[in-house]
Amino acid sequence: MLFPGTFDPFTRGHRDIARRASKLCDKLVIAVMENAAKTPLFSPEERVELIKLSLKNDDLKNVEVMAWGGLLVDLYQQLGCCASVRGIRSESDFRYESEHALANRLLFAGYDAVLLPCRDDLSLISSSMVKEVGSYGGDISKMVPAEIIDKVKEKLLKGRT
Ligand code: PNS
Repeated sequence: MLFPGTFDPFTRGHRDIARRASKLCDKLVIAVMENAAKTPLFSPEERVELIKLSLKNDDLKNVEVMAWGGLLVDLYQQLGCCASVRGIRSESDFRYESEHALANRLLFAGYDAVLLPCRDDLSLISSSMVKEVGSYGGDISKMVPAEIIDKVKEKLLKGRT
């Protein structure tokens, strides 16, 4: 199964989806991708590193992390995936993800998506909120995994100078 996203940066919400999805499949590939509508702050390499650090204490043996600069469906076919997994926080996420799945199915008829409702205590967390709060030096400890707080804070504060 593929878990695609921008992950700029990886949040506690993303980690929860990764943990739960890893139990639903033989192998989960978390792929850092490009979203044409976003200009990421963290490089693909930095995002891969932050995801690996976030999961290092989980010991999830069936999880791999990589960066991919092409179309999602190309990686999906290359890896022989059965589905992509995406977290759903709200009705608008559901609409966006349904359209995203349909668009991908136009590109590759064998495409499918598994949409996981997020945990209610994590439903307000987003990477953009992490960047906004962190760039003012605010407390991001409830939003990102403890393993990456310092690295994320450092980058966000650097972005302000
Ligand atoms: O975390 P995001 O920003 O919601 O993830 C969106 C993402 C990266 C999954 C989406 O933009 C994507 O699939 N990007 C890869 C390029 C691609 O295949 N675009 C066509 C999608 S229909």
